Amino acid sequence: MKTIIEPFRIKMVEPIKLTTRGQRAQLIEAAYYNPFLLRAEDVIIDLLTDSGTSAMSSEAWGAMMRGDESYAGARSWYRFRDTVKDIFGFEQVIPTHQGRAAEHILFGVMVNPDSIIPNNTHFDTTRANIEFFGGKAIDLPCAEADDLDSEYLFKGNMDIEALEKLVADEGPERIPLIMVTVTNNSGGGQPVSMANIREISRVARGAGIPFYFDACRFAENAQFIRRREPGYGDASAAEIAAEMFSHADGCTMSAKKDGFANIGGFLCTNDAELARRERNILILTEGFPTYGGLAGRDLEAIAVGLREVLDEHYLDYRLLSTRYVVEHLRELGIPVVSPAGGHAVYLDARRFLPHIESLQYPGQSLAVELYIEAGIRSAEIGTVMFGADPHTGEEHPARLDLVRLAIPRRVYTQSHMDYVLEGINLVWERRSDIRGMRIVRAPQYLRHFTAEFDWV
Ligand SMILES: Cc1ncc(COP(=O)(O)O)c(C=O)c1O
Repeated sequence: MKTIIEPFRIKMVEPIKLTTRGQRAQLIEAAYYNPFLLRAEDVIIDLLTDSGTSAMSSEAWGAMMRGDESYAGARSWYRFRDTVKDIFGFEQVIPTHQGRAAEHILFGVMVNPDSIIPNNTHFDTTRANIEFFGGKAIDLPCAEADDLDSEYLFKGNMDIEALEKLVADEGPERIPLIMVTVTNNSGGGQPVSMANIREISRVARGAGIPFYFDACRFAENAQFIRRREPGYGDASAAEIAAEMFSHADGCTMSAKKDGFANIGGFLCTNDAELARRERNILILTEGFPTYGGLAGRDLEAIAVGLREVLDEHYLDYRLLSTRYVVEHLRELGIPVVSPAGGHAVYLDARRFLPHIESLQYPGQSLAVELYIEAGIRSAEIGTVMFGADPHTGEEHPARLDLVRLAIPRRVYTQSHMDYVLEGINLVWERRSDIRGMRIVRAPQYLRHFTAEFDWV
């Protein structure tokens, strides 16, 4: 069969409230032109994030009913810990309430004001947490990552030569860890190849620097390797994931992505002494080491989700349904990052709105227009998110100005995606009339979440 179906049946539904264009124009103005500040019920198709927005399975809901809510040593903790150890292979597992809490603990222990932390591309929360502790977050994406049309299959790769040069120039003592984000969220949801992972590991181990994964979308990355990298076609996603992690010393993880969970995360390491220091902070900020900011039922849901996400039929459907949207956009001539990534579709706002300069935030304008046109909520990943120095307040154009349409797992069907395609095309047809934006008010850190905007 050529038709790709959602490999699940739907047995619970949530109605979508439909709004008119006029209502949406008022609603987004009242939200200071920041889609994060809208009420979710005023959104028709919510593609703000794939994080924590998954539909859980009947198995996961069933497991939640079995949650052991004991303060210490709960059954649910052991189920969670054993699942994480089995899939990720690291010896020490530290539960946290979400990914950024794992990052905060990790960098709190490892980063000082002299530190430099390279990554293929830091996500906003890893960058902000490193900067919070005075360190410098450096992006080393491969050259193909900047060419949004390049069909290179692993555009999430790190630039190995640049990594070697950084280690040689700065010295390993300034680099407390090397990270790689799978898939590369801020770089377009693009995968990292096993060959690249092996090379990063070689550089890290050669210099005695710990190597960490930001593992949020590890299963999608594993399936990309399976489908695209020679030699992996017969391996399961679980086997590929195990090989990926075998090259590293630890990971941070947000279970809100490839854990199918609505909340949760964890931090892993093979270093028992480091884990002891991390648990000291965990107790201060998250909770006792056998629950770390999560309820027993959350630990159960994650334990089920981490296994479900490795199902090959689900992963094929996931990657192909994202590709469906990208290919249709390309047929319409709409600038989009290709090849398709795993969890999201990224519109190239600079080419969509070439008359708007980066410091007038073309990505923000496009996200606002998509909401007004069709009630689609998306997120700017560009100069609003990355273009300000939190210490000096100085602004510069980000490397890319993208709009991310992140697809929640198992939530929307193909007809929802057809509606999204129609909405984007309507904005495309009137693109020359769209104006840039200016920031009226913004906080020091992670400004995109709460900044207030107006039209230029
Ligand atoms: C690559 C990446 N790292 C880290 C995080 C942070 O995870 P959380 O939202 O659970 O704090 C995210 C969340 O979107 C992410 O995409």
